[in-house]
Amino acid sequence: LILRAAADPQALAVQAADLIAERVRVKPELSLLVATGSTPMLTYAELARRVQAGTLDLSRVTAVQLDEYLGPDSLGLDDTDQRSLWGWMQRSFVGPLRITRTVRFQFGEDAQQTCTHYDAQVSALGGIDLAVLGLGPNGHLGFNEPPSGPDAPTRVVPLSPESQVSNRVYWDREVPRQAVTAGMTVILAARASLLLVTGEHKRSVLRRVLNGPATPELPASLLGGPDVTVLADRAALGSAL
Ligand code: F6R
Repeated sequence: LILRAAADPQALAVQAADLIAERVRVKPELSLLVATGSTPMLTYAELARRVQAGTLDLSRVTAVQLDEYLGPDSLGLDDTDQRSLWGWMQRSFVGPLRITRTVRFQFGEDAQQTCTHYDAQVSALGGIDLAVLGLGPNGHLGFNEPPSGPDAPTRVVPLSPESQVSNRVYWDREVPRQAVTAGMTVILAARASLLLVTGEHKRSVLRRVLNGPATPELPASLLGGPDVTVLADRAALGSAL
């Protein structure tokens, strides 16, 4: 695990965009697992600036959705529902970055089948080259809530009360009680990962991730290996450096 520091969220966005751009330069048909949430938004905006300036081409990249809410009928939300993470990913990533290839959760009759189909699509891509992740306040990755071990598959999950509360800020509508998430299996099999962490409110969870031990009680602590970069701003790092 490589720990890198950035002065502030904007500097972090530039460093993250540099890292992603370099990976795309080496492999233009990169498969990229894409988190939503607040943390990566400045990074995506920085990438979008480069695409619009013509200095970065992401047209051969495949963007893979990380997680999605389920509606009350246990099917996907409508794409136009303000809570839809696919909608968010479209607006913040797929559209502005001119992405043409995507893998998303496709809902039919049965959400578990949706997960099986998602895994098959990721396998057909040859797995994930780079996972761009945010850190949940409780250490979750995607919607792999604690406890989630390394074998936790792509699946339907109930959302923890903490996640329902932390996601509440995004809408005035009720936070769904269930979601689907790429499994820890998919995330940990990524050939590289980039965990983005900003803000003082992430300081204590980040410290636990960095200091170990690796435990299903803190799914992000299970990230490991030579090509995992944790990129955190000073507010999140506190005195960890
Ligand atoms: C989003 C996701 C979540 C977030 C995490 C951090 O697709 O899967 O795991 O990455 O909750 O959220 P923010 O960045 O809003 O602090």
